Amino acid sequence: MQLQDILFSQGFGTRRVCAGLVQQGWVKVVGADGEAHQVFDSTASFEPVGLHFEVQGVPWHYAEKAYLLLNKPAGTECSQKPSAWPSIYTLLPAPLRQRPSKSAVQGVQAIGRLDQDTTGLLLLSDDGQFIHRMSSPKKQVPKVYEVTTKHPLDDSQVARLLDGVVLDDDPKPVRAAAAEPVAEDHLRLTLLEGKYHQVKRMVAAVGNRVEGLHRSQIGAFHLPEDLAPGQWRWLSEADLSALSTA
Ligand code: URA
Repeated sequence: MQLQDILFSQGFGTRRVCAGLVQQGWVKVVGADGEAHQVFDSTASFEPVGLHFEVQGVPWHYAEKAYLLLNKPAGTECSQKPSAWPSIYTLLPAPLRQRPSKSAVQGVQAIGRLDQDTTGLLLLSDDGQFIHRMSSPKKQVPKVYEVTTKHPLDDSQVARLLDGVVLDDDPKPVRAAAAEPVAEDHLRLTLLEGKYHQVKRMVAAVGNRVEGLHRSQIGAFHLPEDLAPGQWRWLSEADLSALSTA
């Protein structure tokens, strides 16, 4: 694959921009010797899989599809066009937002949305099948939330969350797959679907109130402790298989 096409596929701009980046000496390709070598020929051909390169000094690697996680900070919106708070997409480097796509939207998309004030584990990808697999209610991927409540939790509230509560928009009760009291005002809640404001509405339905909400786990994958709020990283193969494990 030509170097300009590799850069284009990874979101570094139009083919013309990518050709220009190479011709102006902004691109280095890591060779078999492990060293990054400047390449000036934008049509030079490379095997993309496994390719490591630098663009304007920033190391990158080829990924046919992008799979990321972000530790979402409070005070950010999951929308591309936020109404009041900065978008989570501003936390990602431009190539991830610009990756070309056959669908109407470019770049990686958040898989499900967290509220402005919710923190923690958010997945992003440009792989439509993966997005569907992780977000479809039919797939029942468990999501674990650390919930801080305004009032001390009592046993009957926890029991009702497990038995099922009716939310205003649906007569069918929704129930937590697990509800583990951690402290008198801290509950670890596992949900298998992701309805709008689901945790806040369920907790309100049992007569309490969510004061803080943090998503700590999806499937068997935990938010890494060394990933600070606002930071993102690529998901590894092992991470991806943990995500698909209940
Ligand atoms: N449930 C909520 O109420 N808010 C979130 O952000 C996620 C789940």
